[in-house]
Amino acid sequence: MEAEKGYKNKERITLVAIVVLASVAVASLLVAFSYYCYIRNKVSKRLKSNKMVAFVENDGFGSLQVSSERGPLVFTFKQLHSATGGFSKSNVVGHGGFGLVYRGVLNDGTKVAIKFMDQAGKQGEEEFKMEVELLSRLHSPYLLDLIGYCSDNNHKLLVYEFVANGGLQEHLYPARVSSTVNVKLDWETRLRIALEAAKGLEYLHEHVNPPVIHRDFKSSNILLDKDFHAKVSDFGLAKLGSDKAGGHVSTRVLGTQGYVAPEYALTGHLTTKSDVYSYGVVLLELLTGRVPVDMKRPPGEGVLVSWALPRLTDREKVVQIMDPALEGQYLMKEAIQVAAIAAMCVQPEADYRPLMADVVQSLVPLVKSHRSSSKVASSSSFHSVRSPTARDLSKAVV
Ligand SMILES: Nc1ncnc2c1ncn2[C@@H]1O[C@H](COP(=O)(O)OP(=O)(O)OP(=O)(O)O)[C@@H](O)[C@H]1O
Ligand SMILES: [Mg+2]
Repeated sequence: MEAEKGYKNKERITLVAIVVLASVAVASLLVAFSYYCYIRNKVSKRLKSNKMVAFVENDGFGSLQVSSERGPLVFTFKQLHSATGGFSKSNVVGHGGFGLVYRGVLNDGTKVAIKFMDQAGKQGEEEFKMEVELLSRLHSPYLLDLIGYCSDNNHKLLVYEFVANGGLQEHLYPARVSSTVNVKLDWETRLRIALEAAKGLEYLHEHVNPPVIHRDFKSSNILLDKDFHAKVSDFGLAKLGSDKAGGHVSTRVLGTQGYVAPEYALTGHLTTKSDVYSYGVVLLELLTGRVPVDMKRPPGEGVLVSWALPRLTDREKVVQIMDPALEGQYLMKEAIQVAAIAAMCVQPEADYRPLMADVVQSLVPLVKSHRSSSKVASSSSFHSVRSPTARDLSKAVV
């Protein structure tokens, strides 16, 4: 009897233990499952947001978010026709190798620049679209945004964001191009443009895979927004332009006279270092206020690089090549440093030229220190912050 009682007790205890263990197991399973659901939900939310925001940058232009899923907008010819007032002459803002450039306003009020490709273009529609799709995936605050395109029948048009201040060359050589611009760019603005344009090329060369070679980097392809921030334009367009002989258009194939790296001109061998050479020429334009080629100048001064290169590394000669319009604005130290960067970029031997990342690194402290020194200069009578005046120069020359 006693033994039977003990046996029954043991049985009950075992049963309770089994029930408790089973409940614990079920509870643990439930906890594990809810945790799994929670994690899965979190991961899928993160994936979704990563897909939407491909690029977030904040470096003085405010924060920028560009959806990686944003493709180029496709416009009908009719839409662009009405955006430009029927491609009216009064809306023409320029004429380049691609064709006429019109100012336009889209239905939602966005201001755009519309490039109407010359009919001479022989590029196939598919190639045009592929190139456009490649270009619309490149996004940086230092590159001009391609908004969309139109490829209706024989009409091929590109739609870009509109910049208020046009091309850099219009501001360096105001008398030559337009009478509406009469104040030349100051030194600080030139330094900042040099840095921002360098960042644009650095993005194309080093942040894109495979790298994009601009092929036609020049002052008219650096556009200036309302606050004179620089945006590099027309990257990749070399492939799109027509190959009509003569005039502007042949520049599409060979680059533009005065900007082309010697090895590219001689052998057709194109690398990112060819862009570095062209960048060096633009830096020389910013320093000297001279166009790359001007055969009306005295003998020996017609080609900017040949005239400037021997003077760039000589302290006293740097002063002589500076744009007279910059008089009284720059520190000699700054001019010498920018001249040294330009000298390296226009080296005839491509391997001796720096990477655009090196150029950016060298310009960043200059732009920063100029900003802070000009603050000091304007808030006190700190007269050592000035470049030589004409009188100083004549003293330096003798
Ligand atoms: N997005 C834009 N916003 C405002 N003006 C523009 C824009 N794009 C071009 N322009 C104006 O149109 C002019 C011609 O530009 P375009 O790029 O067609 O020719 P280019 O730069 O002189 O030569 P290339 O065809 O060799 O690039 C520029 O100098 C500029 O004044
Ligand atoms: Mg251009």
